[in-house]
Amino acid sequence: MTVETERLRTTVAAELDRARRRTTTLTEAVDDDDLVRQHSRLMSPLVWDLAHVGNQEELWLVRDVGGREPVRHDIDELYDAFQHARVDRPALPLLGPAEARAYVSTVRDKALDVLDAVRLDGRPLVAEGFAFGMIVQHEQQHDETMLATHQLRTGAPVLQAEPPPSARVPATGEAFIPGGPFTMGTDTEPWALDNERPAHVVDVPAFHLDVAPVTNARYAEFIDAGGYDDPRWWSEAGWAHRQRASLGAPLHWHRDGDRWVYTRFGRTTPVVPDEPVVHVCFHEAQAFAAWAGRRLPTEAEWEKAARFDPATGRARRYPWGDEDPQPRHANLGQRHLAPAPVGAYPDGASPYGVQQLIGDVWEWTSTDFHGYPGFRAFPYREYSEVFFSPEYKVLRGGSFGTDRAACRGTFRNWDYPIRRQIFAGFRCARDAEPGESA
Ligand SMILES: [Fe+2]
Repeated sequence: MTVETERLRTTVAAELDRARRRTTTLTEAVDDDDLVRQHSRLMSPLVWDLAHVGNQEELWLVRDVGGREPVRHDIDELYDAFQHARVDRPALPLLGPAEARAYVSTVRDKALDVLDAVRLDGRPLVAEGFAFGMIVQHEQQHDETMLATHQLRTGAPVLQAEPPPSARVPATGEAFIPGGPFTMGTDTEPWALDNERPAHVVDVPAFHLDVAPVTNARYAEFIDAGGYDDPRWWSEAGWAHRQRASLGAPLHWHRDGDRWVYTRFGRTTPVVPDEPVVHVCFHEAQAFAAWAGRRLPTEAEWEKAARFDPATGRARRYPWGDEDPQPRHANLGQRHLAPAPVGAYPDGASPYGVQQLIGDVWEWTSTDFHGYPGFRAFPYREYSEVFFSPEYKVLRGGSFGTDRAACRGTFRNWDYPIRRQIFAGFRCARDAEPGESA
C-alpha cells in the first residue's frame, strides 16, 4: 500500500468522524420527544435525518463499495427521500432514537472496515475516495438541514457557540469584474459532485458585484421604503407568492416597538445591522435588487468573481487560493451560530476584492439549476439530474452552517425560489457600461 493511499484512508476516516461528531451534537442536544417531533412541515423529524444518513452510508459504502450483506434491508424504503415527502415522514414507522443511534453506529463500523480493505483506485466510484467523500458531504449536508430544523424549533436554546468575529475592514461598494472567459466547474477536484463537472469555458461580460452580501441594515431600508407593498419591484411569481404567504420581513424577524428583533436558535436579540441578511427567499432577494436598481448575479458571474485569478488566468479552488478553508478565511462549519458582520474575513477575499463569498450565507443567484455542457450523472441520476429544472434556483458559497467538506468555489446548491428556512441571503450585481474598465 502506498503512502498516498494510506494518507487518503486517514483523511477519509477523520472526515467521517468529524461529520459524525457534528451529527451527534445536533441530535443529542434535544430529548427523545424533540427528536421524533416534526418542528416544521418543511422539515423531517431529526430522527429521520439521523437514520437516513446511516442508510445512505449503508447503501453506498457497505453494500456497493464493500459488497457486504445488508445491515437493515427492511428500512431502505422508509429512508428513501424520493419515496416520502418531508411532510409525511413523521407518520412512518421510523426507527426510534435508540434504534436509530445503534443502526448508524453499526453501519459506521462496517464502513470503516470497508475503508480498510478496499482499493481506492480503479473503479470511478472509489477513485480518490470519491464514494466516501460523497457520504461525508451527504452527512454534513444533512447536518446543515438539521441545524435549520433547530432554528425552526421552539423552546429554550440548546445549541452553544462563540459569537462570530467582528468586522475588520470596510466592506461596502462594488468590485468591477472585467469581461472575458474563465473556466467554470471542475475536472480535478476529487470529491466534486457530478453537477460541478465538467470544467468548461464561459465568457462573462464585464459586471459589478457587491463586495459583501446585503446587510440587515440595508434590507431594513427596503422594508421601510415599502418594498414589500410595491409590486413594481417583484416578478409576477414573486408578487403572487408575497401576497399568498403574507411576506413582510425575513423569516424569524419580529417587530419590537420601533425596532426589529430576530430569534436565533431560541434566543431573541435586536437585529445586528452589519450582518448579512439571512432567511430571505429568492423572490425577496430579487425584489430588493430591483428596488436598489440592481439585479442578482448569474451563477457564472458569482463563480468568476469567486475563482478567477486575473494574474494567472486560472480558476482557483476558493476565493483566497487553493488552500482548504481555515477559520481565518470564512465562517463555515457551525463554529458560530450566525453570519459574521461584513468585513469580518478580509483573508478570504478574492483577487477582485470580493469578500465573504464562502461561508456566512448561501447566496441566491438568478440562474436556474441545470447541468453544465457535457454533464454526466454520477453515480446516480437522483443526486442532481432529476432536479435540473427552471423550478430551482442555484445558490452558491455555503453558510455558517455549511461544513468545509461540502463547500468549494465550484459547489452548487439549489432550492425552490420560495424557500426561506435555509441559511440564504444574497448580494447584488449590475451590468458594466459599454467600454467601462476598472
Ligand atoms: Fe439525503
